[in-house]
Amino acid sequence: MAPVEFDPFSSVFFDDPYDVYRRLRDESPMYHNETYGFWALSRYDDVVAAHRDWETFSSSHGVDLWTMKSDPEHVRNMRMIIMMDPPEHERMRALVSRVFTPRAVAALEPMITEVITGVLDGLAGRPSFDAVAEFSGPFPVEIISRMLGVPAADRQQIRHWLDLQLHREPGELGPTPAGLQAGADAGTYFYRLVQDKRRRPGDDMLSRLIGAELDRGDGEMTRLDDVEIAGFASLLGGAGAETVTKLVGNAVVLFARNPDQWQCLLDDVGGRVAGAVEEILRYYPPSQYQGRWSLRDHTAHGVTLPAGYPVLLVTGAATRDERFFVDPDRFDILRPPSLAIGLGYGIHSCLGAALARMESRIALTELARRWPRFEVDESGLRRVHMSNVAGFANVPLHVAA
Ligand code: HEM
Repeated sequence: MAPVEFDPFSSVFFDDPYDVYRRLRDESPMYHNETYGFWALSRYDDVVAAHRDWETFSSSHGVDLWTMKSDPEHVRNMRMIIMMDPPEHERMRALVSRVFTPRAVAALEPMITEVITGVLDGLAGRPSFDAVAEFSGPFPVEIISRMLGVPAADRQQIRHWLDLQLHREPGELGPTPAGLQAGADAGTYFYRLVQDKRRRPGDDMLSRLIGAELDRGDGEMTRLDDVEIAGFASLLGGAGAETVTKLVGNAVVLFARNPDQWQCLLDDVGGRVAGAVEEILRYYPPSQYQGRWSLRDHTAHGVTLPAGYPVLLVTGAATRDERFFVDPDRFDILRPPSLAIGLGYGIHSCLGAALARMESRIALTELARRWPRFEVDESGLRRVHMSNVAGFANVPLHVAA
């Protein structure tokens, strides 16, 4: 048999990477791709250990292959939390965590419910609709941009910029020219918005970040500057919108394919919806891999991964590792809880995890309440072709009698 090939820009990857993932874990747990020049770790234990070891597996060169190929100076100038190592990461995380405390997130529940029910009310009475284009696409960006303080008229535009930025043509590491333009437009938009909030603060996250101060430990106070806040806002747009969109789309497809699990959820939505969200994150994680840069040599499984290379920590492969999970290819919402690396792990673990879980729980609860019987037209499913993010662009849903 030919050696396994893992190409994160191929249609095999976009459509169904699970056979490739199994072969990676079994045959090449320290995989090296010569075409693109990256390494990949796919076993659960290896991925978790690498997340812990940020001194070997650094985020400072970016977290996707295209950024990791660009000039590290350029990456540093972006000043995004997800592309920082300690001590910069600690300072930034301490500042932005203040707007994501459990209390602050819990207080958002009425707004999140209002946004989700508002979108679903618009679909009431329809015999069919697109569960992504008409539901899970529009609501998360509305929520995160309301939180940030983005004016209502601009909110959906942010999602369209993001879609363009993340889209990859097969075999292409970087965005299309339209994607690059969208990235620049989004960056400029957020930078101007931050300056606007500085002049006219409101009751929103951007205004609170402008005011946030942190003691550096030497008595000096530190604040975020406009570039840092704008960078954080564009990161949140992507991290906070695209992923929840994919999770809820994946959920609809998974439940249509596993009617026994849907029935299991319907039998006790309140008691089982949180476990269902965890199982969707494990089975089809919206973020399939996290990029890192090797700062020093790392030897495992008899292979040495040298310093100075991009490394993909393949979450999507790790969460199906039978060395850790019992019967990993079975979708089972009553599975006992385990470490949920679908939301990352270690110092960069998802800052919006509580929010992501709350949005997903409310969305699934409302779907179950309004459409307990539905079917998905598999022939109409379309997948996104994106960097780091996986899921569906279209999920045609038919309401059953
Ligand atoms: C289902 C939804 C979500 C998934 C699957 C997800 C997944 C992840 C993952 C895997 C990471 C780790 C990245 C790395 O290690 O390089 C991460 C980090 C992050 N996520 Fe999420 N995320 C979700 C929703 C959200 C939401 C709703 C927000 C905020 C509104 C958010 C904000 C962030 C931020 C700011 C980071 C970077 C944290 C840091 O570098 O310290 N995410 N997320």
